Amino acid sequence: MKAYLLTCLSLIICIQLHAQNHEESNYEESKVPAYTLPDVLKSSDNKTIKNKKAWEKIRRPEVLTLFEDNIYGQVPKSFEDIRFSVLSEDKSSMNGKAHRKDVLIEVSNQNKSVRINLVLFTPNKAIKPSPAFLLINNRGKENTDPSRKIISEFWPAELVIDAGYAIAAFHVSDLAPDNKAEFMNGVMQLYPEQLSADNGMRAIGAWGWGASRVMDYFVTDPQINAKKVALTGHSRGGKASLWAAAQDQRFAICITNCSGSTGAALARRQFGERVRRINTSFPHWFNTNYKKFNDHEELLPVDQHMLISLIAPRPVYATNASEDLWADPKGTFLSLKNAEDVYGLYGLKSKLPEVPPGLNYPVIESPLAYHNREGKHDMTVYDWKQFIRFADYHFGRGK
Ligand code: GCU
Repeated sequence: MKAYLLTCLSLIICIQLHAQNHEESNYEESKVPAYTLPDVLKSSDNKTIKNKKAWEKIRRPEVLTLFEDNIYGQVPKSFEDIRFSVLSEDKSSMNGKAHRKDVLIEVSNQNKSVRINLVLFTPNKAIKPSPAFLLINNRGKENTDPSRKIISEFWPAELVIDAGYAIAAFHVSDLAPDNKAEFMNGVMQLYPEQLSADNGMRAIGAWGWGASRVMDYFVTDPQINAKKVALTGHSRGGKASLWAAAQDQRFAICITNCSGSTGAALARRQFGERVRRINTSFPHWFNTNYKKFNDHEELLPVDQHMLISLIAPRPVYATNASEDLWADPKGTFLSLKNAEDVYGLYGLKSKLPEVPPGLNYPVIESPLAYHNREGKHDMTVYDWKQFIRFADYHFGRGK
């Protein structure tokens, strides 16, 4: 009887929680609250930032610290040792089109080490070091199958190789397993002090840190043009790609696919996934301080347009999918729009229209680029084709 009552009670709680979650999420434009975004061009002592020098010297470091302290956590810059080894290779993979290398990147600090397994293909037709796409892979490892027995639309490596780019990927679990019980069994072991800090690194920060270690490798590989690396990520991986590109200016391009809350979408719109929801479902993604903003997005000292601004003048491409309202397509577009002023300081003019473009209407020839693909939350061949066009344009490879 007791067990029966307990089961009933937990069922009722479950149903209520589910209803609450549903209610928590707004999908109606008319219910978006009135909000004012923090001014990206106003310094903490209320000075207006008028040129790129003042941006780089005063405001950019301030904004970077605000994101570190309030959302993503610190990013440890030093470590005792880093080693790269090619574990295996195949000079004629993809029917001779590509050279595959399985690279092990081993980073050590405080007697602990982390092993990042990089899958890398470079185009054999290249006569110079190749520009590259790097994916922070948050889905199954089979998506980046080195043997190419499994071909996934999520990482269409053959398409990218045919376009003359190298393509690489690492899996987030090498840095921080993606769950609250285990995320500390990776990079966090190298920096144990981060765990107890309210602004300490968490999983998204660890994945971004991993992307930078791959960049450390790229600069040593003569087959890669490390000055032309486009960092990409989907959804939670897209949140990490933005944070990594904001931190590490060696990434020439940032692509953030369906990244939504605490990715490219504005928090203050409170549309789709909100801060409380993300902090509750994924408490291991962001730092402890971020929890203070549950139900209080308006108190954040930043909003996500400022994260995109940190990447200026480097090109950023954000995407959405029409059925993925959870990731707030309009809020993503507005985030890019509100970063335009910082790109303007560099004399760069965004070509984004005043209102979001229609479905499957990519705006590519712009430092701030956007598309909203018809369909579901995913990264598809359609998306990748646009990313290639974007990289071609910005790397001067256009026809
Ligand atoms: C969940 C989460 C999102 C995230 C997504 C993903 O839906 O709420 O914030 O972007 O998972 O990573 O696929």
